[in-house]
Amino acid sequence: MNADSISLQGVTPLGTGTSRACYPHPNDPFLCIKIPLDDRTSQKRQSRELRYYKRLKRSKVSMRHISQYHGSIITDKGEGYVYDRIIDFDGVPSRDLNHHLQNEEGLQKILIHKINELGKTLESGEILFHDLNASNVFCQKIAENNYQLIIIDGLGDASFFKFIHYFKMIRKRTIRRRWKRVVNRFSRYYPWIKPGMIK
Ligand SMILES: Nc1ncnc2c1ncn2[C@@H]1O[C@H](COP(=O)(O)OP(=O)(O)O)[C@@H](O)[C@H]1O
Ligand SMILES: [Mg+2]
Repeated sequence: MNADSISLQGVTPLGTGTSRACYPHPNDPFLCIKIPLDDRTSQKRQSRELRYYKRLKRSKVSMRHISQYHGSIITDKGEGYVYDRIIDFDGVPSRDLNHHLQNEEGLQKILIHKINELGKTLESGEILFHDLNASNVFCQKIAENNYQLIIIDGLGDASFFKFIHYFKMIRKRTIRRRWKRVVNRFSRYYPWIKPGMIK
């Protein structure tokens, strides 16, 4: 093992998706380390996400709703990619939107408001997403009864054609269409979300 490499032996992952395991950073509670699974598709998805993060950085779009990327490091589980770990203002690890949509009846109004706000930010910032389900969006509690939605996964474009990055009209239309799909999925899973609540 390299002297500079970080050991993740015995560290319990925060979660595992279809292509990455996500570990708490052993030396910093506000960071996490994502390790792509050992297959070509997962590695490709990671590189694609990093390319898109670079593009966003260049375009100077607001990153308010996006978990920041802090570069790669060597770990004993392979190359890892460091991101902000989403933590509430009181130090408690934040939960994803699924958890809150299922469990917090008192929060319904504010969550709908925040989801609408997220949609507007994605549209106005022309931020592309391809896999925005409720487990890829975290609800960070930023004060009593106030939340900030943060996307932790699913940004960028998964299609083979690259023209979406160069043509504003196509990009805008795609974002609109994909957002409608996200919203339809929310109201299918959560019947209390009625059509028209989210624009
Ligand atoms: N920035 C983060 N802060 C806290 N937990 C996270 C963060 N990123 C990922 N996770 C947890 O790890 C899981 C897997 O990470 P994710 O990036 O979604 O992997 P995949 O690309 O395989 O879907 C998530 O569903 C979530 O529970
Ligand atoms: Mg995921």
